[in-house]
Order: sequence, then structure tokens, then C-alpha cells
Amino acid sequence: MTLNLKNLPDRFFHYALNGGQQQVEGWLEPGALTATVLLDELQEEAGVQGALAEIGVHHGRYFIALCLLRRPGQQAVAIDIFEDQALNKDHSGHGNRAILTENLVQHVGSVDQVAIIKADSMATDPPDLKRWAGDPVRIFSIDGCHTPEHTLNDIRLAADVLAPGGIIVIDDIFNAQWPGVMQGVEEFFHAHNPHQLLPLIAADNKLILCHRRFRERYLKGLGRSLESALGPVRMGSLFAHEVIDQPFPPLDYLLSGETHARFLGTRLLHAVCFTADNHPGYQRLSGWSNAEPWGTWSDGTEARLRLPMRQATTGPLLVELLAHALLVPARPRLTVDLEINGHAVEPWVFEGTGELGIHRISVPAAWLSGDSLDISFRMNDVRSPLELGVSDDARQLGIGLQRLKIMQAA
Ligand SMILES: C[S@@+](CC[C@H](N)C(=O)[O-])C[C@H]1O[C@@H](n2cnc3c(N)ncnc32)[C@H](O)[C@@H]1O
Repeated sequence: MTLNLKNLPDRFFHYALNGGQQQVEGWLEPGALTATVLLDELQEEAGVQGALAEIGVHHGRYFIALCLLRRPGQQAVAIDIFEDQALNKDHSGHGNRAILTENLVQHVGSVDQVAIIKADSMATDPPDLKRWAGDPVRIFSIDGCHTPEHTLNDIRLAADVLAPGGIIVIDDIFNAQWPGVMQGVEEFFHAHNPHQLLPLIAADNKLILCHRRFRERYLKGLGRSLESALGPVRMGSLFAHEVIDQPFPPLDYLLSGETHARFLGTRLLHAVCFTADNHPGYQRLSGWSNAEPWGTWSDGTEARLRLPMRQATTGPLLVELLAHALLVPARPRLTVDLEINGHAVEPWVFEGTGELGIHRISVPAAWLSGDSLDISFRMNDVRSPLELGVSDDARQLGIGLQRLKIMQAA
């Protein structure tokens, strides 16, 4: 199932997909934006109404996305201490009203129905927030100061003004630099919880809470939207509640072929993340280790993959893989020979830091036959981390795949 996204303005797609957000200084994992968009869509389906708000906006990277998710008549509220940086206890970010306003005008089009409020969240009360937002809030992002006291204060504020079915999005939950966030969240859950808020998602550096009454509905809806790319969605446990704890794919992985073509220039035919062992989107023919939350390592000299094509294709295809190799001082370079449906393509050479990178393969129409695409990877050096002297892992790790898209010229 792909995302509907019919009601979102073109500006949202330009911001999310065409490099808009990269022009705004700030912090936002691609998967966190996907989670927000999926929940926004589920809120619409459930008739959840309200404003959107953020405490701690810096230059607006996430806040602009929230503004672009507003429906007619909905208000957005940006709260930051801005020039009162003496109140910025942990010096994370540095709100700036002029830059924020400029970014809003550039990416949202105007600051109509946007309240930009200079305030210390510790000195803010629910009635202030209600006045600024006009309505209860349906998406409330918390990304101000990271002490336990600030975190607890900000979650309680958000909880008090949250619309039924609203979500609270808490940033930096897994950031080792800010342990205060987890402590504040833990204190929130140990105290009286009159609004019955429960964790829903803990991934992509965000913890997302929702009301107990909406949890099941949101979990089911998220599972439906994610399974085409992720396969079965992995659940973990946080404060004795089940949460989705695996990274969300970037938004382009969930788009319909047409929307992908409209904003990215190619029709999307197939998209998978290599994060599940039993994935309907691909078959591991041989040479792979078990899936991990980030993706899958090859294990051995050759690793082979089969991708069932869900739609008949005749034209040439473009395969895009996000991959890396295990590189260590004892193996600073790895060459991988590739074949697609038995045809050799240019080998991939990995060297340097071993960071994930995008690799593209053009597949001529003449190579397509049947209803699947087979890719084989042959490693020119198959020593395990144990043999390479970096850990006691005896698997013969070579290439690691995170995700893949198959596209066709639009
Ligand atoms: C990590 S940055 C926010 C990043 C932003 N959400 C983004 O999308 O990139 C933290 C922000 O919180 C603001 N801040 C710090 N303490 C605050 C407080 N007590 N009340 C309101 N804002 C605060 C800082 O000025 C800074 O802009």
C-alpha cells in the first residue's frame, strides 16, 4: 500500500523530496518525517482536528514540515527563546526569529496562520498555549532544552493541550548526548498519567506518544502503510508497552509510482528495505546473514537476491541501492562484481570510511525476462571480522544492503 498524500500541497513535496529541507539548518531524520506524514494521514482518516506546534524550532527544519501539513484553517505555533539565549541551558541549537521567518516565507510561502512566540517553555502554561494555538493541538513536537526538568515540563504542557487523537513527538530520545530526555520521559510515565498517553513509535531519534484510545488504530494503519517497504514491522518494548522500534524508510519509498514521477522524475516500481527476514518484497536466494534493524550483510563469497516485479515492465530500469562494505585497516578496499539477470555490470569498488552510499545500475530492456530481477554480488575478499582482527564475529561479511528502489523513466 502506498501513501495517499492527495491533500498535501506541492510545496510539501518540494520541501520533503526536492532538497528544500536541506536548505534549512537543523535536525530531522528522513524516517522521522515519514512517521509524521503517516500519522498525519491516519489523523485525517480518523477526523482528528487541531493545530500543530513545536517547542524549540531553531531555524525551522521540522517546523516547516509541520506548517506544510496544515489543513485549511489550522494554526501552527513556533515556541523558542530566540534571542534570550541565556535561557538555553544546554546550548543545543540557537533559535533565530529572522532566519526562521525567512525560511518560512521561502518554503511555506507566508507566515499566515503561524504564531511565532518568544517564550521559555518553563514559564509557559497550558492557557498560554491554548491562546496561541486557538485550538487543541494535533501534532506537538518537543525539541527545546534536553534536561529532565524541561522534558517533563514540555511533555506535560503538550499533554494538557493535545486534541483527542493528537500525537506528541519527542526529539533526541536516543541521543547519548542528551540522557535527560529519556529521564524526563521516564518520570512522565512513572507519575500519574491522566491523559492516558502511551508510546507508539520509538525510532529515528523520536519517541511518539498518542492517546490509549487511538493506539490500536494507529498501529494497524502504520503497519499497513509500511509493510510494502519494510515487510513485517518489528515491535519492541518501552516502559512495558509495545512500540514500533525500527527505522522508518524515507518518504520516497512509500510514494505511488506517479507521485514519485511527478517530484523525482522517475516512476517508482518497487522499493524495499533489507530489515526483515521474511520480506514479501525480495527473496534471499543465497549468501545473506540475518536481517538487522539497519539492513542485511552478505555472508560468503557470493550473495544472490531475487526481486519479484509486481508490475509488468518492458522499458529499461534504474536500480538504486543504498549499500556499504565492511572496511577496516586490514581491508581498506572491497571490489564487488555484479550481475543482473545473468548480465555483468560495472563492478562496485568500496573504499574510504565504509559509510552508506547510493549506487545505481541501469538495466536495459533486453535483460528483462519473466517477472523478477535477480542480482548477484561477488566479493573479491571474504574475510570475517574475526580474521580481520576487529571483533569475534566469524561471519564472512562483505557488502551490507540497507534499501533498494527500482524505477523506470517517467
Ligand atoms: C535542537 S534545537 C531545535 C531543532 C529544531 N526542532 C529543528 O527542526 O532543527 C533546540 C532549540 O530549542 C530552543 N530552546 C532551548 N531552551 C528552550 C526553552 N527553555 N524554551 C523554548 N525553547 C528553548 C533553542 O533556542 C533551540 O532553537
